Amino acid sequence: MSTPDNSIQSTLVENRVFPPSEATVKAARISGMEGYNALCAEAENDFEGFWARLARENLSWNKPFTQVLDESDAPFYKWFADGELNASYNCLDRHLGTPTESKNAIIFESDDGKVTNVTYKELHAKVSQFASALKEMGVQKGDRVVIYMPMTIEGIVAMQACARIGATHSVVFGGFSAKSLQERIQDAGAVAVITANYQLRGGKELPLKAIVDEGIAMGGCESIKNVIVYQRTPTACKMVEGRDSLMHEVTAKANPVCEPEFVGAEHPLFVLYTSGSTGKPKGVQHSTGGYLLWAKLTMDWTFDLQPNDVFWCTADIGWITGHTYITYGPLAAGATQVVFEGIPTYPNAGRFWQMIEKHKVSIFYTAPTAIRSLIKAADADAAVHPDRSDLSSLRILGSVGEPINPEAWMWYYKNIGGERCPVVDTFWQTETGGHMITPLPGATPLVPGSCTLPLPGIMAAIVDETGNDVPNGSGGMLVVKRPWPSMIRTIWNDPERFKKSYFPEEMGGKIYLAGDGAVRNIDNGYFRITGRIDDVLNVSGHRMGTMEIESALVAHPMVAEAAVVGRPDDLTGEAIVAFVVLKRSRPTGDEGKAIAKELRDWVGKEIGPIAKPKDIRFGDNLPKTRSGKIMRRLLRGVAKGEAVTQDTSTLENPAILEQLAQNL
Ligand code: PRX
Repeated sequence: MSTPDNSIQSTLVENRVFPPSEATVKAARISGMEGYNALCAEAENDFEGFWARLARENLSWNKPFTQVLDESDAPFYKWFADGELNASYNCLDRHLGTPTESKNAIIFESDDGKVTNVTYKELHAKVSQFASALKEMGVQKGDRVVIYMPMTIEGIVAMQACARIGATHSVVFGGFSAKSLQERIQDAGAVAVITANYQLRGGKELPLKAIVDEGIAMGGCESIKNVIVYQRTPTACKMVEGRDSLMHEVTAKANPVCEPEFVGAEHPLFVLYTSGSTGKPKGVQHSTGGYLLWAKLTMDWTFDLQPNDVFWCTADIGWITGHTYITYGPLAAGATQVVFEGIPTYPNAGRFWQMIEKHKVSIFYTAPTAIRSLIKAADADAAVHPDRSDLSSLRILGSVGEPINPEAWMWYYKNIGGERCPVVDTFWQTETGGHMITPLPGATPLVPGSCTLPLPGIMAAIVDETGNDVPNGSGGMLVVKRPWPSMIRTIWNDPERFKKSYFPEEMGGKIYLAGDGAVRNIDNGYFRITGRIDDVLNVSGHRMGTMEIESALVAHPMVAEAAVVGRPDDLTGEAIVAFVVLKRSRPTGDEGKAIAKELRDWVGKEIGPIAKPKDIRFGDNLPKTRSGKIMRRLLRGVAKGEAVTQDTSTLENPAILEQLAQNL
């Protein structure tokens, strides 16, 4: 991985360009740069008319909207506010009575390779009956429901069922700890948790329900009235009388018919917690109408979805990518999609390629981290090399979650895409709801490592601290100058933090600040994302706040102080490095190693295994300015193993750097 500065440099030297083939252009929904430019011009000439047309053409409204964009309370923008619709209706009922109803909505492959197909009609029945069960338990429109589920058909059913009755779901990734779960239940004020007894990953049975019990027992979760358990494996789990029930039992007893609850377009479809630069994770609140419009439309635009495509997004429903490009987008667009329970390296690192062959996947969407680790695996073992699988069904490849380095891009393009499939490097965020800057497969000439150009209607720009545009070739902050339908509406319970985090006063308070640095190519204006400009890390495409990890560390009884920074990592993009001062003397040798392990496990328990620091360094102190501020920039250098060239005269104790540079 390159540092942000190197990325800027490689933008200047990256001169490989891959235009789409003539045949691809001809067949695409958005055909050629003329097609792209025409849509951009439409958005520029009549911004509201553009979005209104798309919202009418792409969604079914129970009550049509008359207002398009309401900016009166900016930055609390409202879209299609007087219109009414239901997300589950748009994903399921809308296809009934059309040829889509008998098409597979989901091809589910379990961890151990068992395949289950579900048609749209069957999925509609499953969702309806489970939605009835939730209603019969007393879950109402506007209630929050926490979903802590494995990657299964039932996980998607749970989300869709909430949407059907107007309950706001909050999915918590199955790798988060009991404490993280408890904090989210509490902040959301959830009335129910939907979970599974266990999840299966890589041949292992991992508990979920026990973690729910542990989280609720930590207190502050009195709002929870029901815990519904999907029996994923035969292993029994503890059930609490009067509170817990089994998903298949409550579903079997419930009314098979459940009319969708039509809600206002601004009704919160879900809250998804994500890390920010300060404090606790924030609950990103998304709307129903605007969100769903963009989920559906970006399926059509970015992936050029055609009726016979088999789409596969390898994300987990615990992240935004799984929300938009598993639970909502593909279903709203009537696609057939593969849903995978397991991990890419089990039973071997050829699993993805074997699955593409087996299910004849035509659109494959994954993360650079997965690609990088599979490159390594393929280099080490020819038996798992993609050339062992028939990948000829593929026609489009996608990348998401972190910058993709040009080398990984080229490998993906050549070895997976056979130099015939466009690679769409999609830049977006939990907050943006869907793609923002991405190539279009039948239009945009591709440049490895660049997310190229904003989608039509997305007014992305690069500015300086005061909000003024910087010239192409100069780095700056990525912003979006006009609202868009799928944007974050607020932070759950914290509208002030919403304003402060995303709409800085210095820029006038109405421009969305993404939190990423970016630079545009001098010649073609292509965007390249250079990484976060705040204290947010991206480890294997997982977003984590340094402050969150620091708080977890200092909560350990032995720790006096901690500072966490990111270090570039070839495999995971960034790796977490923690600098720790203990209340006792600085440990060394085996004792240091043992304490480091204890702290890593502690962070795993506090947040989740994904937040465990890769490297822990102990010091008698941390490098601080005379006014007491920790000098993170210096620590980032130390973490990378760089010699300190900076002026350290303002440091209270310059000798400390040498100590912190020592690895255990
Ligand atoms: O830093 C950017 C990076 O991931 C961040 C958003 O993380 P999250 O909200 O977890 O959403 C991930 C899935 C959309 C961004 O602020 N990021 C995401 N996609 C890209 C990217 N960085 C570079 N290129 C991308 N394609």
